[in-house]
Amino acid sequence: MPHASLTVDPSFVVGAVDRRLFGSFVEHLGRAVYDGIYEPAHATADEDGFRKDVIELVRELGVSTVRYPGGNFVSGYRWEDGVGPVADRPRRLDLAWHSLETNEIGLDEFARWSAKAGTELMLAVNLGTRGVQEALDLLEYANVRSGSTLADLRVANGTPDPHGVVLWCLGNEMDGPWQLGHRSADDYGKLAAQTARAMRQLDPGVRLIACGSSNRQMPTFGAWERTVLEHTYDEIDYLSCHAYYHETPGDLPGFLASPVDMDRFIESVAATIDHVRALRPGRRRVDISFDEWNVWYVDRYHDEDKVTDPQVWPVAPRILEDSYTVADAVVVGGLLMSLLRHADRVTAASMAQLVNVIAPIMTEPGGPSWRQTTFFPFATTSRLARGETLSVSVAGPTYSTAAYGDVPLVDAVATHDAAAGSTAVFLVNRSVDASATVSVDVSRAPGATSVAEAVTLWDDDPHARNTLDQPNRVGLRPTPSAVVDGGELRVTLPPVSWTAVSLG
Ligand code: AHR
Repeated sequence: MPHASLTVDPSFVVGAVDRRLFGSFVEHLGRAVYDGIYEPAHATADEDGFRKDVIELVRELGVSTVRYPGGNFVSGYRWEDGVGPVADRPRRLDLAWHSLETNEIGLDEFARWSAKAGTELMLAVNLGTRGVQEALDLLEYANVRSGSTLADLRVANGTPDPHGVVLWCLGNEMDGPWQLGHRSADDYGKLAAQTARAMRQLDPGVRLIACGSSNRQMPTFGAWERTVLEHTYDEIDYLSCHAYYHETPGDLPGFLASPVDMDRFIESVAATIDHVRALRPGRRRVDISFDEWNVWYVDRYHDEDKVTDPQVWPVAPRILEDSYTVADAVVVGGLLMSLLRHADRVTAASMAQLVNVIAPIMTEPGGPSWRQTTFFPFATTSRLARGETLSVSVAGPTYSTAAYGDVPLVDAVATHDAAAGSTAVFLVNRSVDASATVSVDVSRAPGATSVAEAVTLWDDDPHARNTLDQPNRVGLRPTPSAVVDGGELRVTLPPVSWTAVSLG
């Protein structure tokens, strides 16, 4: 049986685990909003038309921030369409997803939903078809108390208190040719810097995120980051990263190694940030906001499948509704481990997305909601990963992949919360056919003398999933093999599995 070992030592700190690492994303896309979080005719709907069963699941998921309203959608969005009396709101053609946007839900409604779900609202401004003025207008509407036209408009629309939005994305994926208003790095960098300066003049408390590359495979990756940072470094707080992964038939071992790609992605963007930082005076730091990440079977969604004729663009179509497997969830758990491993550089992140659209939560109109497999590692990591990430180095076997070369068979990350006296260890076994034993020296972790909780996500069938018909087919299982004895945690990991152990 393969064996791996590591040491957990609270003196080897990587960085504080920012709660904003456990963010998510709701875009006006498919059934994320309409027939997702919002379904006024549903039996669980509250006075605002929001599904209470979904709100409960979002709370259980442990989501910290929610990015809104896009995504590609935001690059054609007029935020004014979504405020004021609902009956007066325009119906607009959404060019990003070839859908009809009814604007029943806009900023004020979504902010109400976000508060009910216990999440922090993160907004994106449209830098595709719009610019500095519209970003300022939205900021005034959202964050100014009263006494100016747009702030008073919000009050008149029934929201007396400002939304107090801190996190703002300066556009979305502006390097992508598919994006409305797509620009060169130079043009985007100048626009983002101007917008950032203007927004700070209005509200110095905002924290701003400039667009990095849409993914690491973009031909401009690296150069885009450098140029955008050269324009914006002194104005922004974060640079974004986006990455989606999926299993290619016949290459489950390669798919399970996807977090290795995320590690390299983060490290190369961090190197570019350091490069630009080194060229200027001052100590200002720019962090990474990994504000779109997940497993997404993007090949199943083709541009050719989009309805061409705008006469018949549908409202809330069933698109991007991936059904996730156990293997997908093991990768999601591993991607969260990659984010935690880089807690010194990645201080905000959003799993894309939250409900129905490449989502951990699914709903059926007039019917139930359920947890996808990917729900479990997210909810458990959000609950247990507290305090600081510790640097651990895993000694163990490797295996060979076509995409990433030799990669560790067992991956591990540990967090330690000194105030609570608790330690958590997250583990993945990437072997497709063998269990692996792991020993963790926890003798230097105060209070790590017993297992408080140990759960594993695995199944005899790594492609098992939860569906409308079988919503509870896959779930977390207890891990009886996890024991602490003489300062050592020992645990056995089944093949294709993700495990969390909480000690103390
Ligand atoms: O999350 C789905 C889409 O993926 C988003 O709209 C876009 O930003 C990304 O390409």
